[in-house]
Amino acid sequence: MKPGKLTLTQLADMKHRGEKIVMVTAYDAPGARLAEQAGIDILLVGDTAGMVVLGHDGTVPVTMDEMLFMTRSVSGAVERPLVVGDMPFGSYHVSDEDALRNAIRFVKEAGADVVKLEGAGPSLSRVRAIVSAGIPVMGHVGLTPQSETILGGFKTQGRTAAKARQLLADALALEAAGCFAIVLEAVPVPVAARITESLTVPTIGIGAGAACDGQVLVYHDLLGLTEGRAPRFVKRYANLAEEIRGALTTYAEEVRTGVYPAPEHTYAMPEDELEVFSDAFSSELNSIDRSFPTDARAEPERPEGGTARGASAERIEQGQRNGQSYGDQRRESDARH
Ligand code: KIV
Repeated sequence: MKPGKLTLTQLADMKHRGEKIVMVTAYDAPGARLAEQAGIDILLVGDTAGMVVLGHDGTVPVTMDEMLFMTRSVSGAVERPLVVGDMPFGSYHVSDEDALRNAIRFVKEAGADVVKLEGAGPSLSRVRAIVSAGIPVMGHVGLTPQSETILGGFKTQGRTAAKARQLLADALALEAAGCFAIVLEAVPVPVAARITESLTVPTIGIGAGAACDGQVLVYHDLLGLTEGRAPRFVKRYANLAEEIRGALTTYAEEVRTGVYPAPEHTYAMPEDELEVFSDAFSSELNSIDRSFPTDARAEPERPEGGTARGASAERIEQGQRNGQSYGDQRRESDARH
């Protein structure tokens, strides 16, 4: 565990002190870093990525490999927030063994601190299996998007007395199975309040009202990166879609009109070197044979000891062999000029 990481005991204490827990989804390193800087407690690498990142209609198509990739980007970027790997559809539905194997992948390969899975019923034995192996599990009841079809769409859950009682029973069963926290999604306020006061572990609400011990929102929703009609519970704290579109439009205009790049975005070279280069350039230019090659498939001429892809590609590869990222090389080259 990273030093400074929020512990499950601290999270439980927050509930008991009445201190709200703040959770947001994150899918990549830059977003995760900003969330940590904003003091967010929990980062959920949610399978909502299926919709907000991968462009699907729902969460069902998301794969384990996609989730591991995103979780690794998030966990590597932050220290304090608890990183939750959201188990995608199919990764825990077949058997307890399968669920445990996949939960282990989240922790071992992607650096997740804990995992989340949806539903009660068959999910209870999955929770027990995963928790028994030492991996903490966050539960999720109410609107469980992976069961969208069976629930008849993205709809509020627990609106009848019988369904509300079932939700309470499910939440209690998940707590008994070992969940350290439970997400309540799209649940009427009094039902979420009753569940929250009945559980000893924290509830994290999304469309479940203010009585929950914490709240979660999807990153793209709260920042206004998703447009069009949003669920009732979404509050947009920024309008980044408009800002990003504006910036990209200006960039495109400036490239097309030659405004960008301006002199301050370019690199100079010493005058004397430029003179030598210009002289050599004109004499080389004059000696180049510009007749069309007779064999169109002929390999481009290779510089001595080099490859046809050119010096720049080779420099990047050499840097990578030395453990430098492309960004490091770029910064190094900036520092030199
Ligand atoms: O996948 C997700 O982002 C979620 C939240 C909406 C709770 O499950």
